[in-house]
Formats: sequence, structure tokens, C-alpha cells
Amino acid sequence: MKILLVGSGGREHALGVGLQADPACTELHVAPGNPGIAQFAQCHPLAITDNQAILELAQRLHIDLVVVGPEVPLVNGVADILRAAGIAVFGPSKAAAQIEGSKNFAKEIMRDAGVPTAHSFTCTTQAEIEIALDAFDAPYVVKDDGLAAGKGVVVTNDRQEALAHALACKRVVIEEYLTGPEVSLFGISDGTTIVPMQPAQDFKRAFDGDEGPNTGGMGAYSPLPWAPSDIIDDTYTRVLAPMIAEMAARGTPFVGLLYAGLALTDHGTRVIEFNARFGDPETQVLIPLLKTPLATLLYKAATGNLEGTTLDWKDDSAVTVVLAAEGYPAAPKGGAVITGFSAIENVQIYHAGTSVTEQGVVSSGGRVLTITGIGEDLTEARNRAYRAISQISLAGSFYRTDIALNASVAEKGN
Ligand code: AMP
Ligand code: GLY
Repeated sequence: MKILLVGSGGREHALGVGLQADPACTELHVAPGNPGIAQFAQCHPLAITDNQAILELAQRLHIDLVVVGPEVPLVNGVADILRAAGIAVFGPSKAAAQIEGSKNFAKEIMRDAGVPTAHSFTCTTQAEIEIALDAFDAPYVVKDDGLAAGKGVVVTNDRQEALAHALACKRVVIEEYLTGPEVSLFGISDGTTIVPMQPAQDFKRAFDGDEGPNTGGMGAYSPLPWAPSDIIDDTYTRVLAPMIAEMAARGTPFVGLLYAGLALTDHGTRVIEFNARFGDPETQVLIPLLKTPLATLLYKAATGNLEGTTLDWKDDSAVTVVLAAEGYPAAPKGGAVITGFSAIENVQIYHAGTSVTEQGVVSSGGRVLTITGIGEDLTEARNRAYRAISQISLAGSFYRTDIALNASVAEKGN
């Protein structure tokens, strides 16, 4: 099977490693890819917003399966164009990708499917916004309805700030603040059957102790030793299966990765958000732990054949730590040389924002590398990831030192 993977981040590097490891994958192409992926797959430069270029590349290479990494091409309808040309795609249609592209759409589906989530108001006028803000106490949660590259959500105690953000959005969802640990739980769907993965947790704030601005994600780990033992079954029954049934009933079946961002509150699980694609950096811990051959799995999903599929996982734990460029997330600086990342056993170094120049490998994005350690438990996985990242030099770069720290302490106490 010839596969084309679309995207260029750490998530795609991890997916690429997983796809390549499946003997069913005979050729792996990536568009546009990155220098890490180029070590084992053929990269093709193109803009991921260019649907026609992606279609032409897939046709020219006689691709059997396209796997779409990021949300932008999905919301842009790339899956529809590829499917119309008879190519199997892992990734939802433009209509189904609205689950991530519009917060209001996601709320409507959840309401109709009976999926537990925060109470909310969708507003377009200042009067509606004021009523919604008054209906909930601080902290206020204000979400831009549209895709906003991680900048759409403001959580604040300051009513003025909440109002200002709401007024800056065309349409805005204002909702109840949920208290409790956050969990990412992904399901792989063929449109009618959805197969849950094991949960992961990511760290969204830039600095230790969950301080600083929101980012795309500074690290992640899996499994979660502290999570309720029925979390996978419970999320499947109450969230993933009803969402897939509702999407199918509406004539917009969801084929691809349904990412449920959950809050485990005192009143039970509530959905914070859905994404229409693999999470980054959760993918960088889940793929190294997944034993089920990835290319075959995603092909089954893309062709409606997931029924009866269950996933096999390693008994190990994985911890990933993101090395971020100076100035990330507001204004990351690129162009600095990276050294010290040689191959280490039980460590995977995924490229996220790098380029190759005459000076060697240099930074070219906010999140530069993602370093995953694998071990018998979180403590060992953590130690391996942190030992590896401490050997890497990149001027001005930083990383969080507390990824999976509390979970690894809790695990020891068990
Ligand atoms: P999102 O862009 O939807 O992932 O939101 C970013 C972050 O905002 C989430 O990871 C949460 O930490 C926080 N957040 C979003 N919605 C809520 C909510 N209803 N209650 C508490 N925190 C929230
Ligand atoms: N890990 C957060 C995201 O992928 O949106």
C-alpha cells in the first residue's frame, strides 16, 4: 500500500514512523514533511492549503491511502476532493470537520447526541454576550466559534477581558467553567464504528506549574495511572459512540480521528472540545505505545472496515517533552543551530519545526523538537526523555521540567 501523509509537524513525524513500521506500507510519501521525516520517507514540498496540489500528487504517485494530519486542510475540504477522485482518505469531510471548525456546531451535535458538556450560550450581539457572562460566575470561558489556531479560547476571571474577547469574535460560545483534570481520549472511526485509543494527558501552558500563555502543547504522557479504570469504556459509551451515531444520522459520517478533550469533573466526564485529527503532542506518546499495525488500521477506517477491531498496546509508558524556540508562543525565533540529538535507545526524537541549511539542522518553528522517552513506567520514561533533551543545544530554547511529574509520583505511591 502506497501512503501519502499530509502535514509537517511532530505529530506527522510520529505518525510517519508508525505507518512505516507496518509491513503493509510499501511506500511512504509525506507532503510537505520535515527533515526528521525525510530520513525515512519521501517528502514533497507543497502548501497544505492547496487541495488541488495534494490531489495531483496523490494521483501522480498512485496513492492507496491519504492520511491527513492537521485540521486546516480538513476544514478546507481536502478529504472530499480526494474521495471524489476515488482515493481512500483517513480524515473527515469538510462537513464532518466542522466538529473542530465550529464550536457552535460541536455543541449542537453534543446536544442532539446527549453527550455531556459544559452549559453554553452562542452569541452574536453584545446584549447576548452580557447576558451569557452574567449567567455564569467567573472564571469566564469565552470561545471563538471558528478555527483560531489555538488562540480562540480565553479563560479569565476578568469580566472586561472576557467581554473584549467575545466582542472581537464574529460568533462566540460562552460556557460554564469546568473543574477537574483534563484528559485527551481519541477514537478511530470509519463512519459507523469507532475504536477508542488509550487516554493521554497534554500540558497546554508554556511554563512549569501550568503558568504562562496557552500553547499548542508542551508535553504529554500515557497511560494515566490515576485515571478511573473504566475511562475508556465510559468515554466510548457516553461520548464517542453517540457522536459517531449522530454524525452518521445527519448524513455527515465522521471518518478519521475524533479527539475528545475531556474534563473529569465531580459530576462525571464532560467534553471540553472535539478535534477532527490526532492531537499534538499526544500522538507522540500514543503511536510509540501502539502495537496494532497503524497503516492497516487507518486503511480499515478509511474504507469502512473497522467493525470488530480492537487495539493492542505495549505495557510500557511514554512521556514526551517539547523543545520550544525562544519567544514561543508569541513570537518564536528561528534560524538557530540545533546540536546534540544523536540516536538514543528508548528515546524518539521527533522533528516539529526544523529546517536543514548549510549550518546543519536549524530551528524554524515554535515547537522545534518533541522528545519521547519510553520506559517500564512513567518515571523511567520521564528520566529517558529528560536525559535526552538535556543533551540538546539550541540557543534561547526552553522546555517544561514538570511533564508527567505528578503522575509519576502518584504511580510510585501505588
Ligand atoms: P480548547 O482550545 O477548546 O482546547 O481550550 C483550551 C483550554 O481552555 C482547554 O484545554 C482548557 O484548559 C480550557 N477550557 C476550555 N473550555 C473550558 C471550560 N468549559 N472550563 C474550563 N476550562 C476550559
Ligand atoms: N494537544 C492539543 C491539540 O492537539 O489540540
